[in-house]
Amino acid sequence: MHANSRAIVTNQPGPHQELARRVSRALVHPLKKPIAEHTRSAFAKADAWRSARPRPLILDAGCGVGLSTRQLAEQFPDHVVIGVDRSADRLSRDHGELPDNALLVRADLVDFWRLALAAGWQPARHYVLYPNPYPKAAHLKMRWHGHPVFPAILALGGRFELRSNWRLYVEEFALAIQQATGEVVHAELYRPDGEFLTPFERKYHGSGQSLWRLQLDLPPAPELLPTP
Ligand SMILES: C[S@@+](CC[C@H](N)C(=O)[O-])C[C@H]1O[C@@H](n2cnc3c(N)ncnc32)[C@H](O)[C@@H]1O
Repeated sequence: MHANSRAIVTNQPGPHQELARRVSRALVHPLKKPIAEHTRSAFAKADAWRSARPRPLILDAGCGVGLSTRQLAEQFPDHVVIGVDRSADRLSRDHGELPDNALLVRADLVDFWRLALAAGWQPARHYVLYPNPYPKAAHLKMRWHGHPVFPAILALGGRFELRSNWRLYVEEFALAIQQATGEVVHAELYRPDGEFLTPFERKYHGSGQSLWRLQLDLPPAPELLPTP
């Protein structure tokens, strides 16, 4: 298939000037948005599925059609892998049977991450692969590192990996991590070498775009979440 994905266009010359303020705010002011009932019930089912399989957990946050969830389940057969996405359409696409150690969940991550943290989940690995970039400066608050849920993402801990075709997204995320945890991490060029973990990775690479990622080990740190 010929990939023809447009490169990111942004009006930002560098990291957003409001980034540090957004992160400070998320670290101080609790996120008040009530948990949606559909995500509460999806989480309860995922929690029960997981309890029946007491193995290290991998979270695939924003898994799209779930190909990465499947691949990770095969790559880590002694783990359980939970892919979460809010799009019923993407999750319903037929990509064959799921491995026994994989589960796809339709849920809003803004709520799912907070429920996972409250339930004491501590993923061994946590992937955020090609999140929606929201490249307009006005949309900083929709990027995960500009969103009030950001502390919950880090607080879950584990080997964290973010990938994007937008270098600035990964650079901003790295700055936000440093601000929240003191950990210094850098955006690095990622060359997939013919192996693609997700459809977006395949599409961007096939269109000649560079891919970026950051990885680091995060300790579980529920105290990062501000208390009401
Ligand atoms: C650009 S796609 C990438 C999908 C997949 N990771 C890949 O690389 O092929 C971003 C995905 O994040 C999902 N997403 C965005 N915001 C979300 C949210 N609040 N909760 C759950 N999923 C979300 C979208 O539905 C979409 O499938």
